[in-house]
Amino acid sequence: MEAIIQKEFKERFGIDGTMYASAGRINLIGEHTDYNGGFVFPGAIDKVIMAEIAPNGTDKVRVFSIDINEYAEFGLNEDDAPSQSWARYIFGVCREILKRGGKVKGFDAVFAGNVPLGAGLSSSAALESCFAFALNDMFNDNSIDKFELAKIGQSTEHNYCGVNCGIMDQFASVFGKKGNLMRLDCRSLEHEYFPFNPEGYKLVLLDSKVKHELKDSPYNKRRQSCERVAQRLGIETLRDATMEDLDKIKSDITAEDYMRARYVIGEKDRVLAVCDALVKGDYETVGQKMYETHEGLSKDYEVSCVELDYLNEIAKECGVTGSRIMGGGFGGCTINLVKDELYDKFIATAKAKFNEKYGHEPVVIDVVISDGAHKCE
Ligand code: GLA
Repeated sequence: MEAIIQKEFKERFGIDGTMYASAGRINLIGEHTDYNGGFVFPGAIDKVIMAEIAPNGTDKVRVFSIDINEYAEFGLNEDDAPSQSWARYIFGVCREILKRGGKVKGFDAVFAGNVPLGAGLSSSAALESCFAFALNDMFNDNSIDKFELAKIGQSTEHNYCGVNCGIMDQFASVFGKKGNLMRLDCRSLEHEYFPFNPEGYKLVLLDSKVKHELKDSPYNKRRQSCERVAQRLGIETLRDATMEDLDKIKSDITAEDYMRARYVIGEKDRVLAVCDALVKGDYETVGQKMYETHEGLSKDYEVSCVELDYLNEIAKECGVTGSRIMGGGFGGCTINLVKDELYDKFIATAKAKFNEKYGHEPVVIDVVISDGAHKCE
């Protein structure tokens, strides 16, 4: 990928730029908890977005996407927003840096990636953090701290892409460290690295190929439900709610809002239980909690779909240790914690059964926990 980007850059712009990369992410547990002030447990993966970039001495950004085979050119003022949705991520990052008093000047860029789109692996966060990291290095002497870089990506989603997301994806993409998952407290932003090398197990993703589009999707509505319940409870986020608190106001809120909040409160506790289990090397409990999360996401939070429920069911039937829908939902993939000796049988069974029912096989995505945003030396 690097060589293709370099060749394209040289042909278009006649010089060499600097190469940067950032990563997609997985999340072991803690789904839809980030915007509720709860805990998440993500890690960056070996699926990346890479961009070659060089200042061009003008006040314009000129950028080419190899994968989409499209070129965009835009200025850096608020009303210069490009029409292509992929370019709005880059424009948004520029604008959010400028809004924070940082510097961005005109630059040329060519980028490509291998983070599967719409699979729930945060290709958009990888794109945002790649450019946020690069522009911080190129124009700001790395004076913007890493949390602010993550927030720049998050604000880009909010203000330029229509997704009212939490901080998990951008955090994972910026802070990711090879071989480590991270537990992030999304309220205090305290985080801890957890070496993750489950001996005897593999983590594998099965992409249903069902596409989701979080913009205008029920994602923002889920968040609104949580905020309504928190407001009714007189607390800032559901992080501070217990099941007893929720049950006390049950008759004052809609049945739907009740279900959404019930999931979030349960998930908050599951992340902590998984952390304890990981410390003890107790992967059976980790897996059990993953199944419980799936159940909650499917029945209470209603962000699954029949294809993902089916993949989860197959995993259960095969005796897979843990399996659940991963990411925002409404399509994408399941994350599975599988014993080494069961791996081949599980993959073969999942492919055959899914194909029989839906006419195509799920795509197997093996992941390695890797570094997040960085400059390629
Ligand atoms: C998407 C959002 C994240 C998070 C997850 C669900 O990936 O971008 O902020 O809310 O969904 O856990």
